[in-house]
Amino acid sequence: MAAPRGEFTSRFGFLMAASGSAVGLGNIWGFPTNAASNGGAAFLFVYLILAFALAYPALMAELIIGRYARANAVTALRSISPGDKSKIAALVVGFTGIITVTFILSFYAIVSGWMIAYFFDPLARLLGYGGVAQWLTTDAILRDAAFVVLFMAVTVFIISAGVQEGIEKWASRLMPSLIIILILLILYVLTLPGAMDGLKAYLVPDFSSIADPTLLVDAMGQAFFSLSLGVGTMLVYGSYISKQENLPTTGGLVALLDISIAVLAGLLILPAMYVALANGVEIFDSQGGLIAGPGLIISVLPALFNTMGVIGIFVALGFFLLMTIASLTSSISMLEVPVAYAVEHHGLQRSKAAAIIGSIVTLISLTIVFNFDPMFDIVVTYTTEMSQPLLGFAFCIFVAWIWRRNDILKEIKQGAPEAEQGLFWKIWPFYVKFVCPVAILIVYFQ
Ligand code: PFF
Repeated sequence: MAAPRGEFTSRFGFLMAASGSAVGLGNIWGFPTNAASNGGAAFLFVYLILAFALAYPALMAELIIGRYARANAVTALRSISPGDKSKIAALVVGFTGIITVTFILSFYAIVSGWMIAYFFDPLARLLGYGGVAQWLTTDAILRDAAFVVLFMAVTVFIISAGVQEGIEKWASRLMPSLIIILILLILYVLTLPGAMDGLKAYLVPDFSSIADPTLLVDAMGQAFFSLSLGVGTMLVYGSYISKQENLPTTGGLVALLDISIAVLAGLLILPAMYVALANGVEIFDSQGGLIAGPGLIISVLPALFNTMGVIGIFVALGFFLLMTIASLTSSISMLEVPVAYAVEHHGLQRSKAAAIIGSIVTLISLTIVFNFDPMFDIVVTYTTEMSQPLLGFAFCIFVAWIWRRNDILKEIKQGAPEAEQGLFWKIWPFYVKFVCPVAILIVYFQ
């Protein structure tokens, strides 16, 4: 039968793991560019409201279900469903989450592979291997395939080691390093000519765009993707939290860390883009907007680093190390969702489950690499814009309409005995019952 379940050894361990899942390419790449193209600080303002008012309650829903059930997503949703019909719905939602997260990981691994390739590029140049550097930074199927395999191998390696020795240990090493590298890069970039224009583009609000529906849709999509919601990741991490832990506070800290790192990343990316502009690099696309897609990370920023001379080599190393760490702490949380299911439901050994599922994800990634143009955008759209918000909606319904209110309170009170009198219990049930589902649907149908 299945091995005994893992548990995070401390609040710090959980915080690093869960914020590691949340902080990823979505924060460092997605958030700053979304902000820049949606009215700067106006986006920030809406994002902060949505993140705390909608994403945080949805995050709490997953953490509470997970810790209550101490099980993978499918089993956990079934255990809070009292009737036959709701048990079937639980199965459908749980499996859709597992399939969605598998596909998210398959495209995430491709982009993460680029980050590793661009990390090796300055190293190769430093060591005088110009030809290798050229290969690393030239868009090609073979390069993408090689780095997908490498990235997935590292992800499988960490997940095979388990909750404490794999996820917690690595997240506790990598997340503090990420924060230090990010702050050092910000401090350096802000000293360069042009940086202040970038700060202005980021921090001066253009409130005329607040009424723009795309701003709301973008801000909500960003908040859900960034907090890794809807696909069972936070539910599974929640299932490894100790029963002594105060859930509302711990979940609040995860949201706060995620949001803070996104906001900090804006202080790096936008100033860096305007420094690039001051150095003669093109940062606007043909429609006059800031370049935001892959071009930003793999052409604008490397072009900037190239204008910086020797120091640029070290800045490039630091930047792509930051991106690689951010990707890795997110990818392990994605792989954990199907692995936890395979271990607990099918009694598979953890390392075997990680290897088998990791290989399946790698095969899907390679299929996308070989058919990039038709497939990549479709996979991103279906998983993050269609499936993820609908699953977030389903999780709210399960917690607020299907699960018994008393059981929820009992679960929260385990680590927070005074919770019944606290602000969280006064507001949160109403939020997940009415505000979150309605808001998610409105934004979804926009
Ligand atoms: N939150 C991650 C990011 O912002 O890049 C992405 C992510 C991780 C999405 C885990 C979904 C997931 F299950």
